[in-house]
Amino acid sequence: LSRFNKLCIVGLGYIGLPTASTFASCGMNVLGVDINAGIIDTLMSGRIHIHEPGLLEVVQKGIETGKLKVANKPAPADAFIIAVPTPFYDGKKADLRAVKAAAHSIVPVLQKGNLVILESTSPPRTTMDIVAPILEESGLEAGKDFYLAYSPERVLPGKILRELIENDRVIGGITSESAEAGRDLYSCFVKGQIVLTDSTTAEMVKLMENTYRDINIAIANEFSRLANRFGVDVWEAIPIANRHPRVDILHPGIGVGGHCISVDPWFFVEAAPDLTNMIRTAREVNDSQPFTVLDLARNALGSLDGKRIAVLGLAYKANVDDLRESPAVEIVETLVQYRASVIACEPYKPDALYDDFEVCGKIEDSVLDADAVLFLVPHQEFVNLDIQTIVENAPTAVIIDAVNCLAIEKWEDAGFTVYRLGDGKRKAVPRLV
Ligand SMILES: NC(=O)c1ccc[n+]([C@@H]2O[C@H](COP(=O)([O-])OP(=O)(O)OC[C@H]3O[C@@H](n4cnc5c(N)ncnc54)[C@H](O)[C@@H]3O)[C@@H](O)[C@H]2O)c1
Repeated sequence: LSRFNKLCIVGLGYIGLPTASTFASCGMNVLGVDINAGIIDTLMSGRIHIHEPGLLEVVQKGIETGKLKVANKPAPADAFIIAVPTPFYDGKKADLRAVKAAAHSIVPVLQKGNLVILESTSPPRTTMDIVAPILEESGLEAGKDFYLAYSPERVLPGKILRELIENDRVIGGITSESAEAGRDLYSCFVKGQIVLTDSTTAEMVKLMENTYRDINIAIANEFSRLANRFGVDVWEAIPIANRHPRVDILHPGIGVGGHCISVDPWFFVEAAPDLTNMIRTAREVNDSQPFTVLDLARNALGSLDGKRIAVLGLAYKANVDDLRESPAVEIVETLVQYRASVIACEPYKPDALYDDFEVCGKIEDSVLDADAVLFLVPHQEFVNLDIQTIVENAPTAVIIDAVNCLAIEKWEDAGFTVYRLGDGKRKAVPRLV
């Protein structure tokens, strides 16, 4: 074990809980802290509040062995990790209230020689300009009396436990000793390389990674619109283009959701509006992609008014239960505004509640007598869907595949009309000149 044996993790969500239980499983004494009483109750009763493969087992083991404890406020420890949400306000401004509150909650228990790590994705300079001054309200000086570092998280939901261990980890210290202290802490379980730098570089690296992904998705989405205009099937064109040895175009989709890629680039735009034209434009392209899907639905059904639409998938991406910032939810809400009646099937969150439409967990229940079945998320269960399920429950439905998850020919052979995002070959294109 390192010099940090007692750890306190503030925020027990998708990042904090897997991190806390992984530290516990390598023998550290971990206190997980969350202000949400419901989460603490759930964990105390041996259950977990998020869906993540393998997580329940490690959390239960941590609780049983006594290595993982939970509480509603921090207690003295050797090291603290802050993993609270950093969403944005209206106007796409970073909402750092949770980070500030978490830092304030550590102040009364902070001691000389402690290490504090911010893991929440944050605008550049947050660690130095916002977190350090709050922690210094303890009377201790950052970088001198206690170590302070920023270490971003790059795990993929669905594979969090594996990636926590295997991914390379960046640790940016406000001093080089702080970065080294961070390395001592994480080397308890990280098998990937640990790269040390300063805190602002680490903050910027995290935002650069997600901004790069966002821009690449935006160009794929724009290609899907162009293909539609020119009578080209984007799903045929992209793999051909990708045969170029230095080209790697991503898949178009219904937009970008979740807590990270759709949010983080705005932190750059807010911090430096004069330098971020391309970043802002990419965000706008991805934010408007749901309307490309609505156009596809309108094209398939004529008017949406009064149509019964079964929507398959609400999560922001395949095989996860996370509905935050999900473009699928936005699409459904807009369909309802156009007076379509929607039942959404989300097997990962069957009890999600919305005012304007129903959610269920079974495909059969959502497609009954539907005029159209709209695929918005390529969950494995939808990809594997037996055509017979639709034949039996909604034989005349139009199929709209917004995420290219179906073997279209099979559906057409079964008598369905299929519309697919970015597939301009499946519609008559008027002469352009
Ligand atoms: N989810 C991901 O895949 C992912 C990936 C990389 C980075 N991140 C970043 O990690 C951070 C955490 O994200 P998440 O997905 O775990 O969020 P989350 O919403 O799942 O969990 C955050 C938890 O923090 C708790 N919390 C809020 N304020 C608190 C406070 N003052 N004290 C104690 N607990 C508090 C909330 O109740 C919640 O349970 C964010 O900055 C996010 O951008 C997330």
